[in-house]
Amino acid sequence: MTKAVCPGSFDPVTLGHLDIFNRATELFDDVTILVTGNPQKNSGLFTVEERVELIREVTDTRIKVDWWSGLLVDYTKAHDVSTLVKGLRSSLDYEYELPMAQMNRHLSGIDTVFLLTNEKYGYISSSLCKEVAKYGGDVSGLLPDPVVAAIKEKFA
Ligand code: PNS
Repeated sequence: MTKAVCPGSFDPVTLGHLDIFNRATELFDDVTILVTGNPQKNSGLFTVEERVELIREVTDTRIKVDWWSGLLVDYTKAHDVSTLVKGLRSSLDYEYELPMAQMNRHLSGIDTVFLLTNEKYGYISSSLCKEVAKYGGDVSGLLPDPVVAAIKEKFA
């Protein structure tokens, strides 16, 4: 069985992330979305628990959702995960992801598989959605519907 993890901060999950998760389930037998962050230290807009709940709400039951506040490779070793899956929107993402993928491989031998983001979602990021929502802009069509509702509530 090939186990894969899609790690990220997912603050909050976007339609671009969701597309990557669904495509990962076509490639791997067992897929876990791993929200990284410390539930005790809330550093984002959504708490780690809220991010996990939102992802559970918008993914089907084939996809597992978990969180982790330590080194990613400690999680992957403990859970026999063979592959990390991440989305790449552009060369900027590539520059950001390359050293992390190489560091994770150096630390534990784990490989990272990159899926090219669906062109429909190439410009979407959690941070831009938060900024648009903060100033009352419309984020529907960028985030899953329950996340649109949750972000509106945060900035209400
Ligand atoms: O949402 P992001 O910014 O793409 O996620 C980056 C993330 C969370 C995958 C990365 O920061 C991470 O792996 N954090 C866990 C701590 C860790 O293992 N750091 C070393 C990474 S080489």
